[in-house]
Amino acid sequence: MRAIADMVRERDLIVLADEIYSRIYYGDAPVSIAGYPGMLEKTVILDGFSKTYAMTGWRMGYGVMPAWLVDAVNKLMVNSCSCVASFTQRAGIAALRGPQGPVDAMVAEFRRRRDAFCEGLNRIPGFRCPVPGGAFYAFANVEGTGIPSKELADFLLEEAGVAALNGGAFGEFGEGYIRFSYANSLENLMEAVARIEKAAVRWEEVGARS
Ligand SMILES: Cc1ncc(COP(=O)(O)O)c(C=O)c1O
Repeated sequence: MRAIADMVRERDLIVLADEIYSRIYYGDAPVSIAGYPGMLEKTVILDGFSKTYAMTGWRMGYGVMPAWLVDAVNKLMVNSCSCVASFTQRAGIAALRGPQGPVDAMVAEFRRRRDAFCEGLNRIPGFRCPVPGGAFYAFANVEGTGIPSKELADFLLEEAGVAALNGGAFGEFGEGYIRFSYANSLENLMEAVARIEKAAVRWEEVGARS
């Protein structure tokens, strides 16, 4: 981020920083690029209610930006999505003004799921999964299975009933990885691990097919 800030500071550019997971972390708090010298004026921070307040699908978010941008962004939003429904906005106010303990409890629960799920994934032949420091995704390296990640994700969905995203969907450096969400019950997550473990006996056959 320091390198990006150094580059942007000298140029006619602004950074769009998607910080939607900023409250879901398990160790050191994440830092914002807006905090680097001179970057407050050159950053649009994007945030929302989907993650911190589990309001996914309520279509409500916000931007924090330099004052000179506000009129143009207002014009864009009013004419492209005609504002967020008023009752949803009231729910957002309640979320922001209400007690924040439930957010901490949710993050603690995510941590429990993260630990158990990553440990389970790391037992599967060909999988190596670092323990994530934030959000609720396990990004497992699956090169050891010998199966291209798209084929592996399709196989897991079709044969094991486990949904995962092909890492290649995030760009070429994601090839060799698949992404799981652990925003699900511990019971379902353990069931997913058990199903993948069961499917793993067929890695060689799937590899040969692809
Ligand atoms: C990185 C990131 N940014 C933003 C969002 C926005 O979510 P929503 O459009 O539901 O508010 C998501 C949701 O998956 C996300 O993963």
